Formats: sequence, C-alpha cells, structure tokens
Amino acid sequence: MRRPFVALLVVLVVIGAFTGGLAWLLDTPRPPAGATKGQRLYLGLCATCHGPDGRGSWRAALFLVRPGNLADAAVMDRRSDNYLLDLIKHGGAPIGRPGMPAFGSTISDDEIGEVVRYVRSLSRGR
Ligand code: HEC
Repeated sequence: MRRPFVALLVVLVVIGAFTGGLAWLLDTPRPPAGATKGQRLYLGLCATCHGPDGRGSWRAALFLVRPGNLADAAVMDRRSDNYLLDLIKHGGAPIGRPGMPAFGSTISDDEIGEVVRYVRSLSRGR
C-alpha cells in the first residue's frame, strides 16, 4: 500500500473514533425496556443536567451547572406538586433560579405531570 493511502485511512479512523466517542459521551441515557412515559421524558430532557438518578450529572458539573439533588427526600418532600409543575413549565427564572430551563413549550402539561411523578420516585426509592 502507498503511504498517502495509509495516512488517509488513519485520519479517517481517528475522526470516526473521535466523533463516535463524542456522540457516546453526549447522548442521553437509553430508557430501560418498559419505562414509563415520565421516565422516558426525564431521561431525554432532564438527565443531561440532573443525571439519570437525579443526583446531578458530571456533564453539568463540567459546565458549573449546579442542579441540586432530586433524589434527596429531605428537600423534595418540602416541594409541593404545584411548585414542581410550575418550575418545570416556566423554568427557574421567574423565582430567581435561572439555572433551571422552562419546558412549557417543549412538552404538554400532562407530560409535565408524568415527569413530576417520575421525579418524585427518585427520592422515594421507587
Ligand atoms: C440545562 C440544565 C437543566 C435541565 C436540562 C433541567 N434542569 Fe432542573 N435544574 C437545573 C438547575 C441548574 C437547577 C437549580 C436552580 C437553582 O437552584 O438555581 C434545577 C432545579 C430543578 C428542580 C428544583 C429542585 C429544588 O430543590 O427545588 C427541579 C424539581 C428540577 N430542576 C427538575 C427538572 C426536570 C423535571 C427537568 C426535565 C424536564 C429538568 N429539571 C431539566 C438545571 C436543569
């Protein structure tokens, strides 16, 4: 084989491994078989910052996002359902907690309800 061809092959393999690795790193976690709608929505929309278990993801920490701990029953038991529904629909900005984005234009109120139910399960050991 000639050298330029080998060099091209090496470059293609390196680019492939790099982009494949990035996609693997940045992809959202795959929902387990039989996952509820709430869990699917959570893993797709929330886990990037809050982590699959609600304790916060290392990717968020990398960007200095501090999403709190949704699995902490001491905190979550003090949050009413209305507070959670509002926070997820309108984001944290209206209550001075701008780190939390709004999802009112992404998912319906019913879907937000499903997500809240799933988030609750994170602090109750399922
Ligand atoms: C871009 C990152 C990001 C995403 C995506 C995100 N959040 Fe958050 N969330 C945050 C941050 C940051 C906070 C903390 C805000 C603060 O305290 O200033 C937060 C706070 C919260 C809180 C409040 C916790 C408390 O102690 O009051 C809940 C509940 C919550 N998020 C649920 C969700 C749900 C459900 C989703 C998906 C629909 C979601 N978040 C998506 C970043 C994110």
